[in-house]
Amino acid sequence: MTTADHIAIQDPDEALLRDAHDLLRQQWGDSVVSLGRKVDPFTLPVRVAVSGDEFTGVAAYLIEGDELEVVALAATGAVRGTGRALMLDLFEMARTMGVRRVHLVTTNDNLRAIGFYQVIGMTIARVGINAIAEARKLKPEIPLTGEKGIPIRDEIEFEYLIKG
Ligand SMILES: CC(C)(COP(=O)(O)OP(=O)(O)OC[C@H]1O[C@@H](n2cnc3c(N)ncnc32)[C@H](O)[C@@H]1OP(=O)(O)O)[C@@H](O)C(=O)NCCC(=O)NCCS
Repeated sequence: MTTADHIAIQDPDEALLRDAHDLLRQQWGDSVVSLGRKVDPFTLPVRVAVSGDEFTGVAAYLIEGDELEVVALAATGAVRGTGRALMLDLFEMARTMGVRRVHLVTTNDNLRAIGFYQVIGMTIARVGINAIAEARKLKPEIPLTGEKGIPIRDEIEFEYLIKG
């Protein structure tokens, strides 16, 4: 178990896994499209954040070769610092497993996430201009607009390189 202040990051038991899946479903519905492929987030391993007895967030991830992709990350918003604690836990997991790179994608409208990932030390690795048009072919439910009415259009990939 990894702790950051009063937030504990752990593998979920059955009840926490239900909370985690509920939050993932609330944010993304039944699938996540990332890097040109459709992923079922409910089949992925997850780490969950808990504060006291309260579930506060989830990270679903995929390890392929020497890369760890964070396929979905969501906080309930009840406890500040949840997103950061989940990501630091994954960086540590990557380091322990000898993974070279942690990466993820977000969309151009997600202003909070774009700020958040840079604050925790990630950098932009690639911008997929208009990539969401392709993503909508796999998942037509992706809305046309996001935060503040911004058209959802581009995919922004962030990365964190694990120092050996
Ligand atoms: C993105 C998300 C996971 C962040 O988790 P969180 O628990 O809200 O983030 P934290 O409280 O850990 O924030 C950590 C730090 O990031 C920074 N930060 C957060 N939002 C920011 C913003 N909009 N701009 C700049 N910095 C920001 C702050 O420095 C913050 O630390 P502070 O609260 O001490 O100032 C959360 O907002 C979320 O669930 N969003 C909806 C789902 C989503 O968009 N997921 C990502 C999709 S790829």
